[in-house]
Amino acid sequence: PLVTTKEMFKKAYEGGYAIGAFNVNNMEIVQGITEAAKEENAPLILQVSAGARKYAKHAYLTHLVQAALEDTDLPIALHLDHGADFEICKSCIDGGFTSVMIDGSHHSFKDNIELTKRVVDYAHSKGVVVEGELGQLAGIEDDVNVSAENASYTQPEQVEEFVKSTGVDSLAIAIGTSHGAFKFKPGQKPQLRFDILKEIEERLPNFPIVLHGASSVIPKYVEIINKNGGNLADAIGIPEDMLREAAKMAVCKINIDSDLRLALTAGIREHFTAHPDHFDPRQYLTPARAYIKELVKHKLVHVLGCNGK
Ligand code: G3H
Ligand code: 13P
Ligand code: ZN
Repeated sequence: PLVTTKEMFKKAYEGGYAIGAFNVNNMEIVQGITEAAKEENAPLILQVSAGARKYAKHAYLTHLVQAALEDTDLPIALHLDHGADFEICKSCIDGGFTSVMIDGSHHSFKDNIELTKRVVDYAHSKGVVVEGELGQLAGIEDDVNVSAENASYTQPEQVEEFVKSTGVDSLAIAIGTSHGAFKFKPGQKPQLRFDILKEIEERLPNFPIVLHGASSVIPKYVEIINKNGGNLADAIGIPEDMLREAAKMAVCKINIDSDLRLALTAGIREHFTAHPDHFDPRQYLTPARAYIKELVKHKLVHVLGCNGK
């Protein structure tokens, strides 16, 4: 059966590594991720956004994840990414998810606490764990476009009260990561506020921290896309050494979506350049799925450090 993230986070915290939380939208993505995790013997979080639920439908996604479970004996958690309100969280809790995120980060501190606590009370009564968020990331967060100027780092002074009064099981923070494939301006030196992470870690001993917007935007896939008719100039992600450093600290969950999208698109574009006459989806989705698998293996072993755990 699906597991919650409780045990995996405890082991990740103690072991100085992080669990990959990969966004899934269709069968090929689920398969590519699962095959990689199986070969690397790594625990997994498969996460679904509101947009993914709208695109693929709840039942298709939960059954795809069920199939992934049957294909491996790894611990797998199914998580709602960026739940916007109580209703979507309840719907996922009732519908078989083992973890939900309630993203109240754009509300006032007080309203965020109130909303998060309501979700936690319901989730915990059903054995489901909850991720909350404090601070705002820059970039595209679901349908809301938070401009870089409005991005605000998590205030360490708020974390103890937030965690204590809501009862959340993990906390997403903003330390300079952002959603999407354009995380820094060209010429800008990528930077994360490790000082904030450190202070949060000191204030919340042994408490699992989550990093959103943590794709590396791996140049290999961007180059393949651009060489094959794409146009992703100046795509820049979070350097891998920074993610490794965060994983050694309190960060137990690292969210990855953009890197999957880039790998999949690279596989498809490359295939069509070589075979403009192909029109069987199995032909172009096979190399696309293989790139997802290759990418996820790389993450598990070289960035997250959760292989063999
Ligand atoms: O946080 C955003 C994730 O990458 C999900 O994106 O809402 O387009 O599915 P989405
Ligand atoms: P990326 O866009 O960096 O992959 O972030 C994904 C994410 O945070 C999903 O919640
Ligand atoms: Zn996110």
